[in-house]
This record gives sequence, C-alpha cells and structure tokens, in this order.
Amino acid sequence: MTVPAPGKIRIMVLGASLRAGSLNNRLARLAAGCAADRGAQVDLADMSEFDVPLYDFDTQEHDGIPAGAHAFRDRLLAAQGFVIASPEYNASMPGVLKNLIDWVSRFTPQPFKGRHGLLMSASPSMSGGNRGLWALRVPLEHLGAVLQPEMFSLAQAHEAFGPDGQVADPALRTRFAETIAAFLDLTEAATHYPCARSAWVEFLGERTSGETERVEVS
Ligand SMILES: Cc1cc2nc3c(=O)[nH]c(=O)nc-3n(C[C@H](O)[C@H](O)[C@H](O)COP(=O)(O)O)c2cc1C
Repeated sequence: MTVPAPGKIRIMVLGASLRAGSLNNRLARLAAGCAADRGAQVDLADMSEFDVPLYDFDTQEHDGIPAGAHAFRDRLLAAQGFVIASPEYNASMPGVLKNLIDWVSRFTPQPFKGRHGLLMSASPSMSGGNRGLWALRVPLEHLGAVLQPEMFSLAQAHEAFGPDGQVADPALRTRFAETIAAFLDLTEAATHYPCARSAWVEFLGERTSGETERVEVS
C-alpha cells in the first residue's frame, strides 16, 4: 500500500445498490462529498461497475477471477479505507454485495485485510437498514477489515433528503458528518502510525493441510 502524505488519505466509497434511484447510492454520494470536504481523496463507485457471475469455485478454476472483482480489488488496494452504503434485504445484505465480497476474498493477498471500513445504510423503514449492516460486518471482519464501531443508518430515507440533496434533519446531518470525520481521523492515524501487526487466518484453529493453510502475516 502506498502511504499518502500526512493529512491526505484515499477512501473508496461504494454505493451498493444496482437500482437507478437508489437511496444508498445517494447516501454514498453524500459521504463522498463530506469526506472530500475534509481533505480526503475520494473514489466514488457503485455496484454496476463490478459485474461478476455468481461465485462458483469451478468457474474460478476454469475462467479465473472475473474482471469486475479485479476492478474492485484494484480500487480497494489504492485506498487506505472504504465506505459502503448498503441496502438491507431481508435483514441482511443484498446477495450481489455478498457475491462480490466472496469473489474479492479469493485474491492473495486478501485485499480486505487491514483496510479500515465504515458502514452505512438507508431504507424507507424506521430502522434505516441497520440490521443489514450487522450482517455485513460478519464477512468483512472475518476478512480482517478494521470496521469503525459507529455506523450510520438513515431511517425513512425516502423522506430524509432535503431539496439541497443533504440530510434534511440538522441534528442527523451533523451526526452524519461527525461519523465520517471520526472514521477519517482513525483511518489516517492508523495509516501513519501503525501500532499492530496481525495475521489473517482463513481457517481458524484447524490442522493445516493444502486445503486449509491460507495464512497471511502483515
Ligand atoms: C428483496 C428486498 C428485501 C427488502 N428487505 C428489507 C428489510 O429487511 N429491511 C428494510 O428496511 N428494507 C427492506 N427492503 C426495502 C429496501 O430498504 C428499499 O427497497 C431500499 O430503497 C433499497 O435500497 P436502494 O434504494 O439503495 O436500492 C427490501 C427490499 C427488497 C427488494
């Protein structure tokens, strides 16, 4: 990973919906603008840029890892941190997002390991899609991403944006900006002052064999 100059970090922001009028992609655009206002370099992306087939080990063996997963991996590796604004589907993450994570996890070195992440969601419901983010934490933390404890979930999101495109409620708007600022501060601190080295082990606590010895030490 290229270490940026002090005060400048690069963040990839993903709107994780394929829908044209997506509330989450709108929230991702706001997050990108907010991070840029605070001095970060921002790479704004959406799901449609990472088209991949359904994960199948046989497809990987036969055709290799698809171009969409390479594109995501490259953009993730170019950044010190990532933000994902994801829809909640049936109290979990959308299948397209999990499928992309599964493909990206097949690279060695494994690209999520050690990357700082912030999760957000938007939904017309009262919970704002927050349950989906708890589900999304599981694969990302398994892969060694360092996720910000705070998350941001915009409830009743179909009515939550003002005419200026910002979050209409002033208190929520402030919380949104503060959540992003805290994430950028921690990511920048961790980038310039790394204080821990860790190993990522795909198959925890199992006897090693050709099938189960994927261990990466940073
Ligand atoms: C298959 C499906 C399942 C959904 N499940 C939930 C859910 O569990 N919780 C929720 O708050 N909204 C749920 N929704 C509504 C979505 O939050 C809503 O469609 C939202 O706008 C999707 O995000 P997007 O606007 O970024 O595409 C679901 C929608 C679909 C299509």
